Amino acid sequence: ETIIRKIDKNNLDPEVIEEAGNILKNGGLVAFPTETVYGLGADALKEEAAKKTYAAKGRPSDNPLIVHIADYEDLKAVAVNIPAKTDALAAHFWPGPLTMIFEKSEIVPYGTTGGLDTVAVRMPSDPVAAAVIRAAGGFVSAPSANTSGRPSPTTAQHVSEDLDGKIDMILDSGSVDIGLESTILDMTVEPPMILRPGAITADMFEEVIGPVSVDETILGSESNKAPKAPGMKYRHYAPKAKLIIAEGDIREEVLAIRQLAYAAHRQGERVGIIATGETLPFYKYGIVKNIGTRENEKTIARNLYRVLREFDDEKVDIIYSESFAMQGIGSAIMNRLEKAAGHLRISASAVVKQQRYR
Ligand code: TXA
Ligand code: MG
Repeated sequence: ETIIRKIDKNNLDPEVIEEAGNILKNGGLVAFPTETVYGLGADALKEEAAKKTYAAKGRPSDNPLIVHIADYEDLKAVAVNIPAKTDALAAHFWPGPLTMIFEKSEIVPYGTTGGLDTVAVRMPSDPVAAAVIRAAGGFVSAPSANTSGRPSPTTAQHVSEDLDGKIDMILDSGSVDIGLESTILDMTVEPPMILRPGAITADMFEEVIGPVSVDETILGSESNKAPKAPGMKYRHYAPKAKLIIAEGDIREEVLAIRQLAYAAHRQGERVGIIATGETLPFYKYGIVKNIGTRENEKTIARNLYRVLREFDDEKVDIIYSESFAMQGIGSAIMNRLEKAAGHLRISASAVVKQQRYR
């Protein structure tokens, strides 16, 4: 039986926090909100707790977990050979949606790191997360609180859809703020390398520590190389339907998706369309969802996983999506969308031209 407790992040109930802390200290699993997505917490320093986490998520155990801390001084307990640049990065971006990778210390079990000698560490800004981490003793491993292969949860409702009955407790503080997982920056290489794009972008790092590099597998669907973050190799965030991204300028994307949606509709398929506030009125066929506004890409990041889950529930056969500008959080949006699509892309101008010559 999973205990579900509502909690107000602006007025934390100390009894609820203590209850969650005790479950974690006793080796149990507690899902809690962070500013990025809901996490599935366990004691990061216990080998058996990591095993339970993998079992609940149905996640391969070579996929390492992120260790969450609430106080910067605690970094020294789990990481060694911490490079000098770390202080400046932490001062700017912690607490917040940044995960940094270091050499691990002795106290971090290999269960938590998926057998690696490195450890991923993040200090979340959500007050519920910080309080739970402190109540648990300071070190909480937390992957996204979804079943492996499903979109990450942005509400407690999503967590319970996937994990009800499989974990001890869910803390519900409503919708998260960002909606996409943290940026991962590998500090064991020089210059540091982005392994997963998120709300903190390369430009933002550059202002603080100078140039960073980017794992080439993040964007290139062309590349055959294995991603450096083990988790990035899985077809994460996969909706049940086939998802196809139209690429081109936005006018052509709309025209192409209209044609493709009409054709699929005539074949009797249930079609989903990922549209924006700006393009919504142009679609006639299919289940059309407004993912946000192009004027504020944060709204798109916040809604992406919810929209993918809704299409699962509505049992659509195929989803067409517009693409988004690769600026700011746009790189992270396109990275998650392309992974959800298994890199299926279509050239909007080619679709439009083909139609013209028919
Ligand atoms: O925003 C987030 O980071 C959320 C919230 C809950 O904090 N957590 C999250 O965890 O996204 P998860 O487990 O879904 O993703 C962790 C990613 C995986 O791709 C994993 O391979 C990578 O981090 N990772 C963890 N430790 C690593 C390491 N030592 N070296 C390289 N990649 C690592
Ligand atoms: Mg995940």
